Amino acid sequence: MIILVTGGAGYIGSHAVLALQKLGHEVIILDNLVYGHQDLVTEVLKTKLVIGDTNDSILLKQIFNQHKIDAVMHFAAYAYVGESVTQPAKYYRNNVVGTLTLLEEMLAAGVDKFIFSSTCATYGVPEKVPIVEDQPQNPINPYGTSKLMVEKILQDFSAAYNFRSVCLRYFNAAGADPDGLLGEDHDPETHLIPLVLQTALGDRESISIFGTDYDTPDGSCIRDYIHVADLAQAHVLALEYLEKNGATDMFNLGNGHGFSVKEVIATARKITGREIKAVECDRRPGDPPILVGSGAKARKILGWQSQYSRLEDILTHAWRWHQKRHQ
Ligand code: UFG
Repeated sequence: MIILVTGGAGYIGSHAVLALQKLGHEVIILDNLVYGHQDLVTEVLKTKLVIGDTNDSILLKQIFNQHKIDAVMHFAAYAYVGESVTQPAKYYRNNVVGTLTLLEEMLAAGVDKFIFSSTCATYGVPEKVPIVEDQPQNPINPYGTSKLMVEKILQDFSAAYNFRSVCLRYFNAAGADPDGLLGEDHDPETHLIPLVLQTALGDRESISIFGTDYDTPDGSCIRDYIHVADLAQAHVLALEYLEKNGATDMFNLGNGHGFSVKEVIATARKITGREIKAVECDRRPGDPPILVGSGAKARKILGWQSQYSRLEDILTHAWRWHQKRHQ
């Protein structure tokens, strides 16, 4: 099959491209390279890269005219929660309007299968954990709202047109390709695990623990860290599901158990053998105390099974990547 992967030069998108290539699919990447890495595409993935925006309908028409695209995997989005609060227009323009433009061009070209990167941020502060798919979605920031808006658009598209989609709601994406080819490389970096490992490498003096007074066993926030290779595998399965005429649906991608910030730091000390200085700080505004997602529906319907649910595996793979990147 020929798959258009938007955001394929980014963290999760690049891992999905690798998984698709391993199965023999042809991949065309559309990425504006605002946050994506061209070198990963040219040196590792070695596939066609179209540099541009999902807002660019003329470019999209060209892509769909030139290639017989079977399905679209849509990773391209802005994903800084804090920035989305101060610059909501940027998020709605890119994440919602850009996606709508892409969807309209898909309709015009007769491409009817779509896999969407959604997020646990669509749930906001959950009433109970592990979160299941039919729990209320009340996002608490424009980033989460932008993703929820697209979910709603996709439901309406399925009702109105010959169009099917799968929304994959990721919990905390983490880790790196187990073979060491790809990894996480955000600039600026805000995520816990890369910051902890940058501290281990001496690139940062310390890691801040945002809040130690939460109602959790050790007082720090709990998150469900999900290996990026497991996320990539879920995309492959979602594609197969749509190929077999599966109906529009949405799935949580979580392991069903979480780790606290303090547990992540302690495990990173063990894996890296480095001291990793930690400093206890105030809470970061907008952080829910616990986010854990049930992957039961994805297991049942997509046949998804996470291979790397151990925090040790996630950190070992991420550490290998960070050391390589640091050289
Ligand atoms: N944290 C620290 N110190 C840091 C960075 C993070 O203590 O320097 C803590 C956070 O407070 C949080 C946990 O580590 O409790 C994980 O934080 P991340 O920034 O790595 O991830 P988030 O849970 O904030 O973000 C994730 C996804 C987002 C999604 C969000 C939903 O990366 O895309 O969950 O809340 F929007």
